[in-house]
Amino acid sequence: MSDHPLKICIAVHSGFGHTARLADAAAAGARSTGAHIQTIPVETITDDEWQALDAADAIIFGSATYMGNVAAAFQAFAEQTGRRCIEGTWRDKVAAGFTNSGAKAGDKQSTLISLAVFAAQHHMHWVNLGLPPGWNSSRGSENDLNRLGFWLGAGAATDVDRGAADVHPADLDTCRHLGTRVAEVTAQLRAGRAVTEAA
Ligand SMILES: Cc1cc2nc3c(=O)[nH]c(=O)nc-3n(C[C@H](O)[C@H](O)[C@H](O)COP(=O)(O)O)c2cc1C
Repeated sequence: MSDHPLKICIAVHSGFGHTARLADAAAAGARSTGAHIQTIPVETITDDEWQALDAADAIIFGSATYMGNVAAAFQAFAEQTGRRCIEGTWRDKVAAGFTNSGAKAGDKQSTLISLAVFAAQHHMHWVNLGLPPGWNSSRGSENDLNRLGFWLGAGAATDVDRGAADVHPADLDTCRHLGTRVAEVTAQLRAGRAVTEAA
């Protein structure tokens, strides 16, 4: 059974730094499990970073929501993966996703769906958020984990007149949770594969 630290990449596009802060939070969560983390800004991806993605056990995708979907820069990255998609380079890696928008809803469900479809096209295993919805009862508050109530991935909202320093702490905690969960699921999958290969 392989005992090298899990390799988890976070492939992200953030135009103004808000989604980058979510990436940092997801990285912190995954790193807390002992995994090796590399964050890759997809708009400036290098050959070495492509190799890191190809070698990763899991890739967490993140994009700001622009015009109700992933940002164009993220989609440009996605389209550059066509050969890998055909050749199955990322097949059976673990995947998950997160996004940030200005509006509380902001049509960002579409962004998470796009990220999940992208992962599915690569035959990756999508990990959902794994949290109940927060802020959805009279006892809830905007400080709840998963305060915007997503299941598919982590969704955050930052007022459009606020800078990256003002990303909501609950959204950062939610992304930290996602990073931890991806690392845990990836470890479970690796352990399971080792057992089935040995049998
Ligand atoms: C071109 C553009 C399109 C946007 N479209 C949306 C949108 O559809 N829904 C929304 O809620 N916010 C929208 N926003 C606001 C961004 O999602 C928000 O500013 C976010 O914090 C940007 O994240 P970033 O700093 O990681 O780029 C848009 C912003 C830009 C620049």
